[in-house]
Amino acid sequence: MKTALVCGAGGFIGNHLVKHLKLEGFWVRGVDLKYPEYAETEADDFVIGDLRDPVVCNAIVDRSFDEVYQLAADMGGAGFVFTGENDADIMHNSALINLNILHQLKENGVGKVFYSSSACMYPEYNQLDPSKPVTAEDSAYPAAPDSEYGWEKLFSERLYFAFNRNYGINVRVARFHNIFGEEGTWTGGREKAPAAMCRKVAESGNDGIIEMWGDGEQTRSFLHVNECLEAMRRFMDNDYIGPINIGSEEMVSINQLAAMVMEIASKPLMIKHISGPTGVKGRNSDNTRIREKLGWAPNMSLRAGLERTYPWIAEQVKVAAVES
Ligand code: NAD
Ligand code: GDD
Repeated sequence: MKTALVCGAGGFIGNHLVKHLKLEGFWVRGVDLKYPEYAETEADDFVIGDLRDPVVCNAIVDRSFDEVYQLAADMGGAGFVFTGENDADIMHNSALINLNILHQLKENGVGKVFYSSSACMYPEYNQLDPSKPVTAEDSAYPAAPDSEYGWEKLFSERLYFAFNRNYGINVRVARFHNIFGEEGTWTGGREKAPAAMCRKVAESGNDGIIEMWGDGEQTRSFLHVNECLEAMRRFMDNDYIGPINIGSEEMVSINQLAAMVMEIASKPLMIKHISGPTGVKGRNSDNTRIREKLGWAPNMSLRAGLERTYPWIAEQVKVAAVES
């Protein structure tokens, strides 16, 4: 039986990945500071542990796993990563996790290790025009991410590639573009725009108003988590080591995103634009490389992904209201 270690298995993508790996027949160990919040883990073994601690990393990497997925990070949406208030923790915590894990993989060996970088590592100067953002993989340099979160991701990408060159560690480095879906963070300050819009619409009365940071003309693309898992698994089974974008090319403005959610909810609400952390003016995944290397493109439209996600978040809002 193949074995997998999922770091960050209590998080959004990690918990979905564990389920996926179990369906494929892997024996899975998950590690996280916490259990998944919205579903029971399906991992064979789940360790509550802090990956900033080398002793914990030493204990959980007690064998040569066939596959390791390093998803653990201090992470969130614009309200967490772009305010500046969490910069020191984001850089310190996530860098330590990556340094510790790679050291252990060097000591114990590993079949392959997947690292989840982010589109936030791309230079800000290529994302100033909301209609024509550039995110081809080879446009990363000269480096100029607009957040410390992006700088840490760039550093850690380089770290994985250095361990590949110097110690022969078989790495796969992917750059995720805004991933959303059911059982993702929807409240508390770390939620990303799709979940935030779903929550605000669900919480609002039929004639209400929702607040949105910025003028709403900033653009993004959003990929449903099931599509993300499919791309990750194909990437692991391919010889190409990356970096590679994993995202959607269906670019929308945040105003369009909100309008879509309102349509799904049948709630025609007003939008009040307020100041808030907005990040880059435009971003879209460039999928040229992933199409060429993996023959992969997402199938699920943003609308179809939101049609699955909105009811789940609306249900969470209802349950929270009853409990409060
Ligand atoms: P998430 O926050 O839901 O999951 C990350 C998990 O890491 C959390 O459960 C957290 O508790 C855990 N973690 C943090 N510090 C830890 C520590 N010291 N020890 C052990 N566990 C720790 O985030 P996610 O959306 O599932 O993202 C997974 C990965 O993908 C992250 O590395 C993130 O930066 C990257 N990424 C995600 C997106 C996205 O849109 N979701 C986009 C770009 C990159
Ligand atoms: N989260 C959130 N909440 N965003 C809002 C809101 C709101 O209420 N209102 C408007 N927005 C706007 C943000 O200001 C930003 O311009 C846009 O919606 C997208 O915000 P997020 O989804 O939070 O983040 P992002 O796309 O800028 O960055 C995310 O994706 C990266 C990968 O592409 C983050 O999760 C990063 O951590 C991630 O790496």
